[in-house]
Amino acid sequence: TAGKIAFDRALAIPPLAEAGSGASGARVFQLGIEAGETRFKDGPATRTWGVNGAYLGPTIRVRRGDLVEFAVRNDLDRETSLHWHGMHLPAVMDGGPHQTVPVGGTWRPRWTVDQPAATLWYHPHVHGSTADHTYRGLTGLLIVDDEVTDALNLPSEYGIDDIPMIVQDRAFDGDNQFEQRVPLGGSLGVIGDEILVNGTIGPHFDVTTRLVRLRLLNGSNARLYNFGFSDGRRFSLVATDGGLLAEPWETDRLYLSPGERAEIVVAFEPGERVELRSYPSEHGGTLGRLEGFDDLLDICQFRAAGTLSDTAELPATLGAAPDLAGQAVAQERSFALASDQINGQAMAMDRIDFGVREGTVEVWEVTNDNGYLHNFHVHDVRFQVLSVDGGTPEPPLRGWKDTVMLVPGKRYRLAMRFSDHTDPNVPYMYHCHLLQHEDNGMMGQFVVLGEGE
Ligand code: C2O
Ligand code: CU
Repeated sequence: TAGKIAFDRALAIPPLAEAGSGASGARVFQLGIEAGETRFKDGPATRTWGVNGAYLGPTIRVRRGDLVEFAVRNDLDRETSLHWHGMHLPAVMDGGPHQTVPVGGTWRPRWTVDQPAATLWYHPHVHGSTADHTYRGLTGLLIVDDEVTDALNLPSEYGIDDIPMIVQDRAFDGDNQFEQRVPLGGSLGVIGDEILVNGTIGPHFDVTTRLVRLRLLNGSNARLYNFGFSDGRRFSLVATDGGLLAEPWETDRLYLSPGERAEIVVAFEPGERVELRSYPSEHGGTLGRLEGFDDLLDICQFRAAGTLSDTAELPATLGAAPDLAGQAVAQERSFALASDQINGQAMAMDRIDFGVREGTVEVWEVTNDNGYLHNFHVHDVRFQVLSVDGGTPEPPLRGWKDTVMLVPGKRYRLAMRFSDHTDPNVPYMYHCHLLQHEDNGMMGQFVVLGEGE
């Protein structure tokens, strides 16, 4: 679709969620899950779901050290859940398939935020319905702030030079309703031909500063993005799923598979216009033509003002690099993803696949064995990619991750530390984040065990 879009709609910026105060100084967020209608384009409105609105949800901003509490009210006609993707928290607060919110009910998870600044997100996680519920619109960003990042002078004015970008593809039927049917021969789920950013099709964003930070979320169920700019300009990756890189990495292309996030910093010149696009994937050959890997997609146009303010900077060094490489490894495990299963088994709600020990580091070796696109996400922890096929990972895999794209046939070794929040009964999930695969069973469950459990 590149070149065919007018970019005549302004990019919507999700509102920031307001917090009230609760017991013991908790910051309390009210989140209502509701059905509504959204006008994405000319013609009939689209039936959608949202959080505190008809489509998507507010951006939730919390600080490291905050005690946070959520009142998650379900006003839909079926049970759903909200999972805090990337959060380190007790399993019972995770919002996974064991913490669904009944129709008309309110769920009140509560925990203390204890992890570095990062761009996280939230979405439903009902086993078998995650793809459906997420596609209808239940997605929002969850930003963690901390002092380390505050001190850096990165662009950080929300909606001005620090821009959330929830990138999703959607297919519309003749009535403007979301099309969820998987095309014949499709193995991934729906691949839509319209790209939405924060719910806006073909948006433009008015740039007023020289440097802009984009917080990119691949919020698609299945589509892979290979981000780049229409004039080939370079940009700097500053943070991955779990937080800051050790130093900025300059590039002109960046892959994000579903569920992955990246913070990038781009520089603009006064008066210029440039488009953020997704370019055909170099993995198209290995992953099959049918499924959108050859697409060139326009995503958003940036329109710079005649004069740009210039106060933020791109520091030479950023955060602490992942440090798990030299650590003693308590346990190694391997995970082979193929045919909607992991290690030959489909997800079962009543089967816990294994327990890990509190305070230990484990190395998980993950492979994608059947030639389709898969990725791998682990709840509760951030992991370090130790190696890819025995070699040093590319720069975008050298920061903290919670979701990693699995190129078919390659071996990914992931190191992670399980620090606290033990519970022998309530599991965390690990799974492919292509949501149809997850729903079909490409998911497993583990518990974190304390001493002697
Ligand atoms: Cu983003 Cu288990 O999920
Ligand atoms: Cu998959």
